[in-house]
Amino acid sequence: MHQYSQGKFTTQGHKGIPEGHFEEEQGRKGFFGPVSHLIKPKPSTRWTNIEGPLRPHLYDAINMAKQPGHWQRMFFNSDVVVSMYWDHKTSGPVSKAVRNADGDTLYFCHQGSGTVLTEYGLLEFRRGSYINMPKCATHAFHFNEDVTFLVTESLSSSFQEPDRGMVGRNAFYDPAAFGKPDLDKLHAFMKDNKSDIREITVKRWDQFTKFSYAENVFDTVGWKGDFFPFTLHVDDLMPMLSARVHLPPSAHTTFVARGFVVCTFLPRPLEQDADALKVPFYHQNIDYDEVLFYHDGNFFSRDNLHAGMLTLHPAGFPHGPHPKAVKNIGNKTHTDEYAVMIDSWQTLQVDPQLEKVEVKEYWQSWMK
Ligand SMILES: [Fe+2]
Repeated sequence: MHQYSQGKFTTQGHKGIPEGHFEEEQGRKGFFGPVSHLIKPKPSTRWTNIEGPLRPHLYDAINMAKQPGHWQRMFFNSDVVVSMYWDHKTSGPVSKAVRNADGDTLYFCHQGSGTVLTEYGLLEFRRGSYINMPKCATHAFHFNEDVTFLVTESLSSSFQEPDRGMVGRNAFYDPAAFGKPDLDKLHAFMKDNKSDIREITVKRWDQFTKFSYAENVFDTVGWKGDFFPFTLHVDDLMPMLSARVHLPPSAHTTFVARGFVVCTFLPRPLEQDADALKVPFYHQNIDYDEVLFYHDGNFFSRDNLHAGMLTLHPAGFPHGPHPKAVKNIGNKTHTDEYAVMIDSWQTLQVDPQLEKVEVKEYWQSWMK
């Protein structure tokens, strides 16, 4: 397709937007595909009413039930399931493990810390750690304190590193930063903690099968291969940025899977050029439903949000920063927000339980 332009337009997206105007990006393939930038005198988020299923949603997950071991599905389709999982500090030895035969599991530790025991070795995690648990990798948690996880299950592919293209192998994060399973630490932990894995519960088609054993089955003495669990901490992510122009959310991709991507937004300096847009641009992410989980920090582009909240912006819903954020950008030089975004190609269904914690007036928050 050829580029074409009419009227007022810029020669560089997100930069030099005419005074008193706003830019709206309309793009395919989640910021990778054909795209146009429309210059308008007012943002396209100035609706007076929205009726129908494309209303955006805000959920306050902090208010959900938190009994030990509570697992709450939130959004789902045939590629991805996004859930929250709460549990208490582990007391006593670990004897039970789990195995997900439905897909690969990406845990993100929102609160707490602990260890994961696997047949490949022990992994340590803390607040801000991703734990990538491949499909069918048997694992058991030991929590040092109460924990909250955002859990993303990939049902039709494994999690892959993003294509780094011309910025090379060590951009975004260096694969050397992955936390690898340690077999010696596993055996030491199990001995010290008197742990014996004798029961494994396997999930397949959302049904559970329990395998029981007369003795410990976490008895691996060695292994080789490129199939194993690992961790990656947000402190080891190196956010991409340009001093001159605002980069799209896709620049913050951490993992890709079939039908969806996982991005991590991190503290970073804002753009320095006087004519550069410093807040996320107004856009229609035409092909993707977007889930954003607010992990920590000050979410400057949104009003009245706190850590632990989630938003769902369906494809077809134009969105951008709240009016206050545009006004308040002022002399701000940095963002200090941490958030995890899951963008899904297929429409996301919402678990009915979420209605209990929905902030119903969210769609009106752009009208203030
Ligand atoms: Fe978006």
